[in-house]
Amino acid sequence: MSKRFYITTAIDYVNGLPHLGHAYEKVVADVIARIHRSLGEEVFFLTGLDEHGQKVQQAALSEGATPQAYCDRLADVWQTFVARLNLSNSDFVRTTQPRHQKVVHAILAKLHAQGDFYKSPYRGWYSPRQESFLTDKDRRPDGTFDPIYGEVQELVEENWYFRMSRHQAWLIEHIQNHPDFVQPDYRRNEVLGFLRSEPLEDLCISRPLTRLNWGIPLPFDPAFVTYVWFDALSNYYSIPVALGDADATAPLQGFYTEPHPAGPSLWPADVHLIGKDIVKFHAVYWPIMLKAAGIPLPHQILVHGWWQKDGEKMAKSVGNVVDPIAVIDAWGVDPFRYYVLRELDVGPDGNWTDAGFQGRYQAELANGLGNLVNRSLSMLQRYRNGIVPAASDALAEDITQGVASVTADLRRHRLQAALVGIWSLVSRANQYVDQTAPFKLAKDPAQAPRLDAVLYSLAETCRILAVLLWPFLPETAGRIGAQLGIQDPPDRLTAAAWGRLTPGHHIGTPSPLFPRRD
Ligand code: ME8
Ligand code: MG
Repeated sequence: MSKRFYITTAIDYVNGLPHLGHAYEKVVADVIARIHRSLGEEVFFLTGLDEHGQKVQQAALSEGATPQAYCDRLADVWQTFVARLNLSNSDFVRTTQPRHQKVVHAILAKLHAQGDFYKSPYRGWYSPRQESFLTDKDRRPDGTFDPIYGEVQELVEENWYFRMSRHQAWLIEHIQNHPDFVQPDYRRNEVLGFLRSEPLEDLCISRPLTRLNWGIPLPFDPAFVTYVWFDALSNYYSIPVALGDADATAPLQGFYTEPHPAGPSLWPADVHLIGKDIVKFHAVYWPIMLKAAGIPLPHQILVHGWWQKDGEKMAKSVGNVVDPIAVIDAWGVDPFRYYVLRELDVGPDGNWTDAGFQGRYQAELANGLGNLVNRSLSMLQRYRNGIVPAASDALAEDITQGVASVTADLRRHRLQAALVGIWSLVSRANQYVDQTAPFKLAKDPAQAPRLDAVLYSLAETCRILAVLLWPFLPETAGRIGAQLGIQDPPDRLTAAAWGRLTPGHHIGTPSPLFPRRD
């Protein structure tokens, strides 16, 4: 079975409600997944939830619920969220699922058998909020810890550690030799800078049961559960194994004993899409975990920036958290997807403003794309009874050039650039309507062939726009297709070739894609 294009998102902490940042990441991953489908590849798109750890245990406790009941309740909320974003994910992983836990057990058992772990006492500072140990290096100049760590506690306890230092040299070399491994470049340089300047400390991979029981028990020491990050990172690989990816499973031979029918070939992942705050986990710990276990490394860690609202960090306490569901309820899913993708390239930080959102809706969706499609198809109904006239090449060259440049952007995952390119075609076609003035041509019977050419060119441009838009705005693309009377979804980029619309074809009924709002 040939390997599928395999893309993942970070798995969100189940405690807490989905906000703009989560929605953005999932939409970006969905667009990349759909681009590859449109290019004719088989795709597997994984997203899901990170359900273990102290924060979940505490949140459940404070509600008087068991952690599992708490997670089940919130998992419904998150799965509804995924559906509302119109994600085309192939699976949804929850780290409490036995299929995931069995693979985590196998990885841990193998690393333990190889001697990668050791047990040692620890005395130091611990941040329950960040679920991480802190050292004196984490203190600020005045000796205190940053408030992002919450209340920092002093702890003395035994734990299991993963020997890291032997992995530093090859990891530096790997990142140097594979410029695509961490992207964008400035994130790659940050990782290299960190790896070159500091010796890697061993990673604590356990939590004692006495402090935390909501986790995956260590298979070789039942007095401990697995550190939540070790558990969570493994999801990218555990699902391919659980689904029966034979190549993925091979390195775990002797440790993973579940029966598994032959499943899709997924591993190694092509893209792990994550936010900028969790780069070290993905670009340092995760490759080391994999390499130590003899598992091939993913091709790319793609790092996106963070959203603010009106120039400020979003926070419940400030009351400025953008709720994507409220935006989708009010405006529809595609305007939400369009704004975040058009506003923010994958990499830098972004800033949501309601005025910016509404401005793009009005100018680019309603007056730009919506107006083009509506007037093109309405004129075709009015002047030609909705029957596609003789073919014309009047816009063929402009559109074909545009398609080539958008396709190049799509292949390189340049989402924002692709949208800019698509909108330059929208503008070109709207300008063409203004220049040719079909409503004047319609008054003069001698201009009938010219009017045919204009109406064909506009309808064909709308059809091609639907194909280009499908990864970004799948619902809108489908509606354009339906208004053109085309049944198949516009989900294949090969269909963006000029001239596919057949003369004599009956289009459907035009209706506004983006109603104007005041
Ligand atoms: O970190 N803007 O989960 P999480 C953009 N469970 N992206 C944002 C954001 C913002 N304002 N806020 C958060 C975790 N994100 C772990 C991941 S993966 C094996 C485990 C992004 O719910 C964040 O950068 O805190 C991360 O990629 C994702 O949302 C989930 O964050
Ligand atoms: Mg977070």
